[in-house]
Amino acid sequence: MKLFLDTANTAQVAEIAAWGVLDGVTTNPSLVAKEGKDFKATILEMCRHVPCVSAQVTATDAEGMKKQGQEYAAWHKNVVVKVPMTTEGLKALTFFKSKGIKTNTTLIFSVAQAMLAAKAGATIISPFIGRLDDMGEDGMTLIAEIMEVWNKYDFETEVLVASTRHPRHIVDAAMLGAHISTIPYDLFKKLPQHGLTDTGIKKFQEDWAKVAK
Ligand code: G3P
Repeated sequence: MKLFLDTANTAQVAEIAAWGVLDGVTTNPSLVAKEGKDFKATILEMCRHVPCVSAQVTATDAEGMKKQGQEYAAWHKNVVVKVPMTTEGLKALTFFKSKGIKTNTTLIFSVAQAMLAAKAGATIISPFIGRLDDMGEDGMTLIAEIMEVWNKYDFETEVLVASTRHPRHIVDAAMLGAHISTIPYDLFKKLPQHGLTDTGIKKFQEDWAKVAK
């Protein structure tokens, strides 16, 4: 499973990319606004580190999405145009597919939306599981249902598990065969950690110090 960082902070991307495990970055307008930096410069800096960087359109009509998306795609070959799951978004996805522009369909909350985005030619779809969990639903059930449908047909569209909140989300997504998980920085930093690893290293060092000359 590919691991993406869900951030618009370029320092965080550089830090995690240095581990050698980062396959991509997802941004959204909220994350970009939080950082308060120039959007194009942020995306281009991220493209130096990873081969797949999602840049989201803010237009709500298909023509506006097409215009913005074509502009973003021209910035760098690693840019993936992120399009919201609306009927206008579906029209834009079809257009981007015809132009060979990679896309990520965001704000997917149902299997029907997932199938429509895939049929419209999305490179990636992003079901948001944490926001479903927040409403008292089980977001991972949506991933299980999407993967069941994907395993029955020939959709080339990759399933990206978004809105992840805790390490178990990443494990469950992998066990279901999802292609990608996008992970917030604080959660990504938790993934290499285990208390038994820390105590094990401490014990090795203490024992070695007893005999080391
Ligand atoms: O980038 C899309 C998604 O991962 C946002 O997550 O935590 O705002 O629901 P969240």
